[in-house]
Amino acid sequence: MKIIALVGSIRRSSYNRKLATFVQQRYVEQMDVTIPDLGALPFYDQDIELEAPADVQAFKQTIMDADGVIFVTPEYNHSIPGVLGNAIDWLSRVERPLTGKPVMILGATLGPLGTVRAQSHLRQILDSPGVAARVLPGDEFLLSTVQNKMNIAGDITDSKSVEWLDHCVADYLKFAHQLAASN
Ligand SMILES: Cc1cc2nc3c(=O)[nH]c(=O)nc-3n(C[C@H](O)[C@H](O)[C@H](O)COP(=O)(O)O)c2cc1C
Repeated sequence: MKIIALVGSIRRSSYNRKLATFVQQRYVEQMDVTIPDLGALPFYDQDIELEAPADVQAFKQTIMDADGVIFVTPEYNHSIPGVLGNAIDWLSRVERPLTGKPVMILGATLGPLGTVRAQSHLRQILDSPGVAARVLPGDEFLLSTVQNKMNIAGDITDSKSVEWLDHCVADYLKFAHQLAASN
């Protein structure tokens, strides 16, 4: 399956980017994961949405061509980071490539709550009419106190977290295949 991972942090040493890379490498047999640089996108502007810059059009096309999307995001001020909101705004207008796409949400944070509020807010956003993505129900992958569970190379060292991630990814792939078969 061709999957795009949208990472909500553009920080060089981002734990969430490392988590996306971990997923890309660990499940390489099941998914071909690409991680675009959301920091390269201009701010969404309704004045130019019908003739969006080439970078934006290329970004939308990659989502259009993908079988699914995995959001990997930190929590910023109890919500999602602006860089991720900006990407979603572009994707919610004109062609709407997230519509009907199978989506899974992952998140890592330094704190004890593991992005739970950001994830719940993101589910609400993904359910809006302009987005209308199909989010994997039930499973939540929250990597709390990530600094104690991931090494410098980006490997998750906490076996329970890896076990849960395996479970969530397996559920997601089943969900994505079922959606594809019903279309
Ligand atoms: C602007 C900002 C707001 C933040 N707000 C929250 C928050 O609401 N909840 C939380 O658990 N962590 C919050 N954090 C801490 C992030 O979880 C932490 O910086 C995390 O490492 C960011 O992810 P990254 O490593 O992928 O960049 C915030 C960090 C920043 C920079």
